[in-house]
Amino acid sequence: MLSQRIASLRPSPIREILSVIDRPGMVSFAGGLPASETLPHLAHSDDPALLQYGPSEGDPELRAAVSEQLRALGLDAPTERVMILSGSQQGIDLVSKLFIDPGTPVAVESPTYLAALQVFRLYGADFTNLDWDRAPTAPLAYVVPTFANPTGRCATRDERDSLARACLDSGTTLFEDDPYRELTYEPCDRVPVAARMGGGSWVYQGSFSKTFAPGLRLGFLAASEDLFPHLVMLKQAVDLHSSTLSQRLVLSAVTDPSWAQRLDDLASFYRNRRDVFDDALRRHLGGLAEWQAPAGGLFFWLRLTRPLDTRTLLHTAIDRGVAFMPGEEFFPDRPQLGTMRLNFSHADAADTERGLRTLATLLDGAADHHTEQTSFQRG
Ligand SMILES: Cc1ncc(COP(=O)(O)O)c(C=O)c1O
Repeated sequence: MLSQRIASLRPSPIREILSVIDRPGMVSFAGGLPASETLPHLAHSDDPALLQYGPSEGDPELRAAVSEQLRALGLDAPTERVMILSGSQQGIDLVSKLFIDPGTPVAVESPTYLAALQVFRLYGADFTNLDWDRAPTAPLAYVVPTFANPTGRCATRDERDSLARACLDSGTTLFEDDPYRELTYEPCDRVPVAARMGGGSWVYQGSFSKTFAPGLRLGFLAASEDLFPHLVMLKQAVDLHSSTLSQRLVLSAVTDPSWAQRLDDLASFYRNRRDVFDDALRRHLGGLAEWQAPAGGLFFWLRLTRPLDTRTLLHTAIDRGVAFMPGEEFFPDRPQLGTMRLNFSHADAADTERGLRTLATLLDGAADHHTEQTSFQRG
């Protein structure tokens, strides 16, 4: 009785892990949770307009504020082509509905954001590999060029330029997902790929989840003229509009003179968390894994020196009070074994220490077990 697409629907490992992270004593390196200390304090208000219906495209003042920021990045994003989303995850769903039928090729990086893969799969996408300097062989190319999830990688200026050119040449729509751009700890070129296209079809999206509060569920997109009206109709069909209350809270935050300072403070706070995490990683996992400290974003991407499927470790890890994201989940096709994504924004120094020590013990034991098994098989 259910639709055919439900057959490809799998529960998100993130949701499953989020359901256990508030157990007392649990250290979570799994989700992309902002630090609780950075979340805003809210005052109550009795303005009835805060609880009224609003336009599908979003609050006009918030759209104008977002448009101003996007135009400063070089995007062709007038207010009329900015839409407020119920989380940037909604943008992934709307763009999928617009482009993907069963069997439609979609070019993606490998690995890439697993909840995007999940939505693309739901609509029946056929994944092809996104090559930064070759024309995508797909009508849609999805990229997270700035501090990618899960790898933390920031694409170079040349890569951005050649992807922009390749999309224009092949008539591919660029779908650029950019929720981490404000969380910058080291300088790198962050000019959006969509700003380098100077035409063509594109959707660029961002989020208020990492800079303000994920529970408000607000993000935004801007799109080229050929796509924007379709996206508005799709949004209407999903939820009419995003929460009026959330939009007003975000509007007053982003138009407050202290907003720029908040972004600076946030970057300093997370830069420090990254450094503390890097130091603890070296002490506990040096020799067991390799990694590069990310120049921005919220994640370390680890490659184990002795590969094993990290999915097999997750349940034991949770039993021992530490959650992580198995890297294997982020690959569109055949997973690369022995990879792990660790979030560094949420745990404080003491929990980071405890969690990484536990993880190291677990990996050490698993590596011994793996070596024993291999020599048994050989012998
Ligand atoms: C690359 C990427 N895109 C989109 C999202 C969705 O964010 P939200 O819906 O909270 O704006 C995330 C969340 O972690 C993400 O990492």
